[in-house]
Amino acid sequence: MSEKLSIQSHSGPYSVAFDDLLLTEPARLLDGQPHFLVDANVARLYADHLRPILDNHRTLVIEATEENKSIDRIIPVIERLVENKIRRDHTLIAIGGGIIQDITCFIASTLLRGVPWKFVPTTLLAQADSCIGSKSSVNLGATKNILGTFNPPREIFICTEFINTLESKDIFSGIGEILKVHAIDGMAAFDRLSADYDSLFTSRATLLRYIREALLIKQRFIEEDEFDKGIRNIFNYGHSFGHAIESATEFGVPHGIAVAIGMDMANRIAVLRGLLPESHYNRMHPVIRKNYAAFASINIPVEAMLDALMKDKKNTATELVLIFPVGDEANIERVRVVPDEGFRSQCKQFLAEMKA
Ligand SMILES: NC(=O)c1ccc[n+]([C@@H]2O[C@H](COP(=O)([O-])OP(=O)(O)OC[C@H]3O[C@@H](n4cnc5c(N)ncnc54)[C@H](O)[C@@H]3O)[C@@H](O)[C@H]2O)c1
Repeated sequence: MSEKLSIQSHSGPYSVAFDDLLLTEPARLLDGQPHFLVDANVARLYADHLRPILDNHRTLVIEATEENKSIDRIIPVIERLVENKIRRDHTLIAIGGGIIQDITCFIASTLLRGVPWKFVPTTLLAQADSCIGSKSSVNLGATKNILGTFNPPREIFICTEFINTLESKDIFSGIGEILKVHAIDGMAAFDRLSADYDSLFTSRATLLRYIREALLIKQRFIEEDEFDKGIRNIFNYGHSFGHAIESATEFGVPHGIAVAIGMDMANRIAVLRGLLPESHYNRMHPVIRKNYAAFASINIPVEAMLDALMKDKKNTATELVLIFPVGDEANIERVRVVPDEGFRSQCKQFLAEMKA
């Protein structure tokens, strides 16, 4: 086991261990009274490694789909946990990506008024971003992430071996969130990452360095504003547009890739609204575009996207609250926007340019 990060939260500190031995020693996770929620693809791909866990009678295997992250599909999971006699002094352990994390964290927040939980993130997105920050987010029908809680895990174990079996779209998706976090840290950080972008795919050491870097940047913001009342809002950069794209395409675009499209869209609209010099858009666009290139020609129905944008949970009754890069330094800031015809045509212009 190598070094650990310690993250401060309202319920005390929790650790993030970089733990590449986990797959060879999974029995360590059986201590206490754990109930496992395991991603079905991970269960299949790592059946031999995870045998002691998969043979445990308290293990539930779940397909990681956005549909399964909806409140109605979570109820049968809770019923199974109750059948398995879960108690408040037991622990839930999630093994999977952001979807299994959100399901587990949400259940851990509400079942029996709170059950401790731990997390083994198995996607790049979950390792570099979602594993810290306390949030759970659950869908209501097609409305993405409208329900949620703040409830950090007790421990996180990052085993980068899991990255070896990810599909390429899920690597790009994780890198989408890494790009976002670095843009939030400032243009110098974003430029450094842009220069190293290609080696993220060829050098595990470089990728690991950026996973750590992304977590360290995020740590500063979540420790200052765990409950997302102020400065942490800017982590929604790319997300209002990104969630709307996910909803409008019926989750046809992986989350972190939708976030990358959303960042490009925010940047372009910021230029069109006179908030950002065009040179900044041109500086960021090539690397962001590279990250979503495989999805650039996907059909994003404009009206469905705009409808989804209107339902974003950050909006006020009359205005959208969006995150844009602003000014000569491209500072990431919250901006209120009236969703008038001008704004709608800027969205349409971006989507048309994206496919051109
Ligand atoms: N709670 C938060 O703070 C937070 C933050 C960001 C994103 N999210 C949510 O996370 C979700 C996206 O998470 P994600 O990108 O981790 O995707 P995911 O959980 O949907 O997993 C993506 C795919 O990878 C598969 N998979 C998982 N691990 C694998 C492995 N090691 N090898 C091969 N396949 C593997 C899954 O079965 C799935 O098919 C979205 O629902 C998003 O809203 C939550």
